[in-house]
Amino acid sequence: MTEEQAFERLQKVLARVGYGSRRVCENLIEDGRVTINGVVATLGDKIDPSTARIEVDGGLAPVAPGLVHYLFNKPAGVVTTALDPQGRSTVVSYFPETPRIFPVGRLDLQTEGLLIVTNDGALAHDLMHPSKGVDKEYLVAVTGDPSPATIRRLREGVDLEDGRTAPAKVSRVAEGVLRITIHEGRNRQVRRMCDEVGHPVQRLVRTRIGGIGDASLKPGEFRTLTIKELQRLAGAISSSSESYGQVDRPVEPEVGN
Ligand code: URA
Repeated sequence: MTEEQAFERLQKVLARVGYGSRRVCENLIEDGRVTINGVVATLGDKIDPSTARIEVDGGLAPVAPGLVHYLFNKPAGVVTTALDPQGRSTVVSYFPETPRIFPVGRLDLQTEGLLIVTNDGALAHDLMHPSKGVDKEYLVAVTGDPSPATIRRLREGVDLEDGRTAPAKVSRVAEGVLRITIHEGRNRQVRRMCDEVGHPVQRLVRTRIGGIGDASLKPGEFRTLTIKELQRLAGAISSSSESYGQVDRPVEPEVGN
């Protein structure tokens, strides 16, 4: 392919990756919502999708050819690393061999629930960067039934061997079931927090990542993230967490992923 052939009209590229019809994408450009390598785009601009950094409303647009972004529901007993020396089932084994993908972050062997799996290094880097603090929500079945005082402790921060945890959102969903939202990514953090307050975890399910959830995705299933979800993730990456350690959320009757 010649250099000239690699360049395509911006609205065509945006439409191809799911931002809407070409007309809709032209409007995005005309409204000044699209940048090319940090400069506001104008209608008529052409780009090389494999090298240009395109942002829409401040969120990185996945225009490079071959990028895939999946939401996976990890079953219990599946390891998050690409290769397991003990021969256990891995997250990667649920996906086609090409393109080569990797999970963003990790869930413990027995933790279930949502994991982003992609070959998009830039997104993975942003999502995992400690300073970005993307919210992750867990449904947690624990031993016993934590008291309001214990829930308050979990919310305000508990002292672990690697330091006090940041304020978290914690609510009681049912007897012995909590919904916990944290934005730190420490190793086994939810399990260690619950251990520390005397209510060891029985079952741990991640139900949301940066505002993205999907109760219809069964364990072992995956689906492609939509552009809207990718935009939401980009928003979650750039916004800081507010209202931590504050008011409880209303009790929600349903328990499940
Ligand atoms: N916290 C944990 O304790 N385990 C996980 O897998 C994820 C969060």
